[in-house]
Amino acid sequence: MNRFNRVRRTFLIIAASAVALTCRSDRIVYRSGTNFAPPPVAAANFIGYFDAANKQTVCGSCHVDFQTRWAGTKHANAWSDLQGSGGATGTCNACHSVSNLGNAISDTAVGYRTTKDVRYQDVQCESCHGPGFTHASGPTSANRPLASIKADTNATNGCGECHNGVHNPFVDEWKLTNEGGLSHSIVQSGTVPNADLTCVGCHTAQGALNKFGVTENYVEKVATTGLTAANALPIVCATCHDPHGSGNDHQLRFSISAPDIDDNLCMKCHQRRADPSQVTTRNSVHSPEGPTLLGLAGWFPPGMSTGDSIIGTHGTPSANPKLCATCHVARYAATDLATGKFVFQATGHRFIAAPCVDANGVPTKDQSCTITGKTFRSCVSSGCHATEAVARTLYLTDSTRILQLIASANSAIAKVKAIKASECTLGGPKYTSCLGTQFNVSLAQAPGGFVHNPFLIEQLLVASINQLQKDYGVTPNISVPLSLQFIPPPREHVNGAALR
Ligand code: HEC
Ligand code: HEC
Ligand code: HEC
Ligand code: HEC
Ligand code: HEC
Ligand code: HEC
Ligand code: HEC
Ligand code: HEC
Repeated sequence: MNRFNRVRRTFLIIAASAVALTCRSDRIVYRSGTNFAPPPVAAANFIGYFDAANKQTVCGSCHVDFQTRWAGTKHANAWSDLQGSGGATGTCNACHSVSNLGNAISDTAVGYRTTKDVRYQDVQCESCHGPGFTHASGPTSANRPLASIKADTNATNGCGECHNGVHNPFVDEWKLTNEGGLSHSIVQSGTVPNADLTCVGCHTAQGALNKFGVTENYVEKVATTGLTAANALPIVCATCHDPHGSGNDHQLRFSISAPDIDDNLCMKCHQRRADPSQVTTRNSVHSPEGPTLLGLAGWFPPGMSTGDSIIGTHGTPSANPKLCATCHVARYAATDLATGKFVFQATGHRFIAAPCVDANGVPTKDQSCTITGKTFRSCVSSGCHATEAVARTLYLTDSTRILQLIASANSAIAKVKAIKASECTLGGPKYTSCLGTQFNVSLAQAPGGFVHNPFLIEQLLVASINQLQKDYGVTPNISVPLSLQFIPPPREHVNGAALR
């Protein structure tokens, strides 16, 4: 039985028993639609609170679960926080109350803007769902006020209508895309429509919500099989954030601290193919970041212990509790150097660990700068590295070491190919060490890999090269530095000790 039936059934039970004013089911308490004071005409069908002092919304008197969850979010305190800031002026109100912002209404003459009535204070249900007078007076599936999950400000809808501007540039940052690069705000072409329906589970908002088990209805909902290039949405705000609140900080749908690829918000998607067991047609990695960070990625040559994963500080929750988000969702303020006054908030919603920044420390649109133009402040503000310069140097040393090993592995692979080419092509009877080494090279070359887990990648490349030597008698042209060959894999790395 779907939710509609459950809701409708409750409705019918009430209608049949006119004496009882309320009736409870799991998700809904139905009250007579006339149980709330009619909204002022000037509110244009927005109904707001029926008990402002207790933050009881009219919607929430029927949709009880949503009321309870929402009441625990910051949205429910938006008005008192605004007043408490000491800086409240009229221009602040629209984003901190029920208005046209966040829903499909574009006319500004609605809600708090026209009434200044306490019942429209705070970011309430109708901020996202739109005016609900008709529905609340006689709920039907035809008049249900579905919310949109769009993020973009251009859509006159969605979270971005409030979460924008210099102090809160969440949507502004989210929208910026690297030319031809990866970005949460674009749907990767070729992932939809696609015969392989698993692609949309990570590459589109609707597919991901479906995969995450979100059954709620919203404007853009379509069956996974009905997704097209035209209706698919990218990784929007509501993919990561639960609009009604969750058990995690910042209304996140899943924990960012869980060291588990199936429970961690980021790793749920960033784990497509990290080891050869998933290799079908392409002998290379695909979003291996989660397993890499946790030391689980790569082809482990025979003799290399798979019993323990090889983890560095970056993947150890006790040392780095926010894991991916420490580096990739780093919030900071940048002060305008010229005036010393204007403060820009970088929200971290470009998801770039070391973004290129201008002289004021503000991330630039163009992200093609060299290493000296990148800020490494997420490495410092997290308390892990003493200075940006230290972190930058480690980045350079690590990449140099790994690049040397990659060159070494590639030269050994080339020699194997010269002797036995078939051993280095997929489709043979077994997964050879030549294929395994190729796979590990692709892991090492995945952007950020040497930051996510340099220890793992070093060990894998060294062991792979040794294995090629053993299996085919080849020696690399570029010799592996001796210092690397005998280092036992660091299992755990205590915060404060030399990090590399
Ligand atoms: C009088 C009780 C009542 C009130 C008040 C009420 N609803 Fe509903 N709501 C219902 C019922 C009953 C349904 C199911 C309607 C149907 O499908 O026949 C429903 C359906 C919905 C749905 C669709 C759910 C789904 O499964 O697709 C949304 C969204 C919704 N309501 C939002 C709101 C919002 C927002 C408000 C406040 C503006 C509100 N409701 C006020 C009773 C109510
Ligand atoms: C009507 C304007 C408005 C809309 C629409 C809106 N927000 Fe907000 N949001 C706010 C304001 C204002 C705050 C700050 C409240 C406070 O701290 O007092 C906030 C706070 C938040 C927070 C901070 C929570 C925390 O615990 O740190 C999150 C997360 C958030 N919003 C997500 C969303 C998402 C996701 C959407 C869209 C589904 C959305 N918001 C739509 C105005 C809005
Ligand atoms: C464009 C919409 C918008 C306007 C206009 C706006 N705010 Fe906000 N405000 C937000 C959002 C979104 C957040 C949540 C940001 C976050 O959680 O990081 C917020 C958060 C806040 C907070 C809570 C900060 C905290 O640390 O929890 C305060 C206080 C605040 N705003 C005050 C103001 C004041 C004062 C004004 C007017 C000068 C104003 N806002 C105007 C959207 C707006
Ligand atoms: C619903 C799946 C999903 C979730 C959850 C997710 N990502 Fe992504 N991420 C993607 C996809 C898909 C791409 C590639 C997008 C494209 O260009 O097509 C991507 C791209 C990226 C990129 C490169 C581009 C950019 O925007 O800078 C980074 C970094 C990134 N994600 C980090 C994270 C972090 C950190 C988290 C957790 C806070 C996270 N992702 C959560 C699916 C996801
Ligand atoms: C910040 C925006 C936002 C706020 C505030 C908000 N909602 Fe929603 N609501 C959404 C979005 C987006 C969805 C669909 C996706 C989801 O549920 O994750 C949704 C879905 C729903 C549904 C559909 C449930 C179903 O079974 O299909 C109901 C009912 C609902 N909301 C009621 C409420 C009520 C009641 C409140 C206030 C107490 C509220 N919402 C506050 C954005 C919001
Ligand atoms: C890929 C996942 C992802 C997406 C997409 C995403 N966020 Fe977030 N957001 C996060 C994470 C993770 C944090 C918490 C970072 C932390 O705890 O340090 C966060 C934090 C926030 C906060 C609280 C910030 C604070 O410090 O108070 C707000 C507000 C917010 N996001 C709004 C948005 C909005 C609006 C959008 C859409 C434009 C959005 N987010 C898209 C992952 C995401
Ligand atoms: C488990 C989640 C997941 C699934 C399933 C998935 N992807 Fe991805 N994909 C990602 C993430 C996350 C990224 C961005 C991070 C990265 O590339 O490391 C990405 C990146 C990409 C890229 C750009 C980078 C590259 O490697 O070329 C393409 C193209 C792509 N995916 C296509 C697909 C196709 C086609 C499918 C279905 C056959 C698919 N993906 C299935 C998560 C997934
Ligand atoms: C210790 C900091 C740190 C942690 C933790 C971390 N990353 Fe990264 N990540 C980086 C750096 C630095 C880069 C490379 C940026 C560059 O080379 O410019 C990077 C690169 C990436 C890239 C390639 C796209 C890009 O922006 O260059 C993706 C995708 C990515 N990381 C996702 C993740 C995910 C998902 C997690 C968690 C499983 C994670 N990262 C954990 C620092 C980190």
